[in-house]
Amino acid sequence: TTGGTDDQKRRAGERAAELVEDGDVVGLGTGSTAAHAIRAIGRAVDDGLDVRGVPTSFDSRALARRSGIPRCSLDEVDDVDLAIDGADQIDADLSAIKGGGAAHAREKVVDAAADRFVVVADPSKVAESLSRPVPVEVLPDALAAVERDLEALDGDPTLRRAERKDGPVVTDNGNLLLDCDFGVVDDPASLSTALSGLPGIVEHGLFVDLVDAVYVGTDDGVDVRER
Ligand code: A5P
Repeated sequence: TTGGTDDQKRRAGERAAELVEDGDVVGLGTGSTAAHAIRAIGRAVDDGLDVRGVPTSFDSRALARRSGIPRCSLDEVDDVDLAIDGADQIDADLSAIKGGGAAHAREKVVDAAADRFVVVADPSKVAESLSRPVPVEVLPDALAAVERDLEALDGDPTLRRAERKDGPVVTDNGNLLLDCDFGVVDDPASLSTALSGLPGIVEHGLFVDLVDAVYVGTDDGVDVRER
């Protein structure tokens, strides 16, 4: 969650939810913006829409359940028609940084499996270039080795600590998180490839060549940017 207003997020999420068609399998993203889409899909289900949702996290599964959306996992479906998910930052080429909510590993699996992946965001997420720290999910045993590898890539990793517990954030998958500052990311594709090649990294939050469209909720509407 960064600087946008709840109204901006709601406009983006509700507009993206209108893309869902009868019979679709829908990837259900994580975070405060995707939550608006999940609630809107739930209202459409109440009105008779036939969909199944593939949650991307503990929270999106719980919200889908409360919203009355039938749920399934990826191994039960042949195809995901559409994924709707938030982002922490998105650049002019529609590359994105995700993982502010520590959910990017499952998000990437579901979002990449979708025929169409739509990011929902508010204007505070939009940037010319990516510059926020990149969340990196790490096997606990590999923490020190991955920290060294990230520093060798000119990154500055910080272990994400829990807010209401003494200790680290533990992901839904039982792993740790490093938020790695690379400054302005000049070449997201090559950094993504480099990070994917490091042993001990479960998944990183750079999403390159995955986003098909971005719905940016504003104070009076929704700006749509398509790839
Ligand atoms: C979860 O790990 C993230 O990838 C979220 O999708 C991202 O943090 C967006 O969240 P908000 O919509 O709350 O800003």
